[in-house]
Amino acid sequence: MKAKATKMKPELKAVFQRDVEAVDSYLLSNGYISKSDDNENRIIDAEFYALTAGGKRIRPVLCIEFYKLFGGKGDVTEIASCLELMHTFSLIHDDMPEMDNDDMRRGKPSVHCAYGVDTALLAGDGLAILPFEIISDRALSGDISPETAVRLVNCLSKAAGNQGMIMGQRLDLISENEKIDLEFLKRMSSLKTGCILSASAQFGAILAGANDKDIMKAAEYAENFGLAFQIIDDILDITGSENELGKPIGSDEKRSKDTYATTMGVDAAYNEAKRYTETAVAAISNIDGSELLCELAYDLLDRRH
Ligand code: IPE
Ligand code: IPE
Ligand code: MG
Ligand code: MG
Ligand code: MG
Repeated sequence: MKAKATKMKPELKAVFQRDVEAVDSYLLSNGYISKSDDNENRIIDAEFYALTAGGKRIRPVLCIEFYKLFGGKGDVTEIASCLELMHTFSLIHDDMPEMDNDDMRRGKPSVHCAYGVDTALLAGDGLAILPFEIISDRALSGDISPETAVRLVNCLSKAAGNQGMIMGQRLDLISENEKIDLEFLKRMSSLKTGCILSASAQFGAILAGANDKDIMKAAEYAENFGLAFQIIDDILDITGSENELGKPIGSDEKRSKDTYATTMGVDAAYNEAKRYTETAVAAISNIDGSELLCELAYDLLDRRH
């Protein structure tokens, strides 16, 4: 069932690790969110808790690596981390009792279990808004141009908003206790997971000043990568372990959700994920320097968390 016998080359893995460390270190220490024992800052403390619990940091890494792929030479860790803020908002709300009702995330009690539902709701809200504060701050301080900021805000708000991730989560809710077909599954997965991943890749391209054609290539890679990513997530909900995943398994079955894995079976779903990965890779493989992104896509097919 393995897609590729080879794992990511050690030198590429090391670059990936460096990106992750840069994002982790930004999230631990920045001017916006920090740990606090002050009751007034409880929401910010909960945001810090969720962000620093772990996470693979795939979205900021996509931003950083697409930035480099299209010739960017600066440090975009802060703007890349905005994607992790938006993603973490989606996870906090996704776990809440009225959504998936999952009590573990990133190996720790979910935010609503650790802090209460009221705080979790507001922490999610705060993390959804903060990226726009940070991006506009960087434009006002002159670190990015106003035009770049507008492009980033437009891209992220569309990806996360009513016709993006939020719509995907709505379709996911509708799908509970319903028999859904592959077309619906694809649309739902593209929206709930593909959109923010696509925005992540596009962020890198926009920050590097890439042309529209290259931004489209980044989006095409990430949309297909996103479908593969959600299919593997669905498979791991059946075949994974809570210990490795840091979140409960059996969550989809508990809510009677049809997924790629339940609809097609685990092996066929894996092959579908492999096909999307190949399409993702084909979108960028002829660009010099795309090796890390290509290998990353294959690597994530065989992830255990
Ligand atoms: C989980 O995303 C939710 C999905 C969109 C499938 P990740 O698997 O990227 O979760 P973290 O960020 O590593 O915790
Ligand atoms: C998550 O889908 C999509 C989001 C927008 C958060 P899942 O509900 O399958 O993600 P996990 O399995 O809880 O991480
Ligand atoms: Mg969900
Ligand atoms: Mg969930
Ligand atoms: Mg899942």
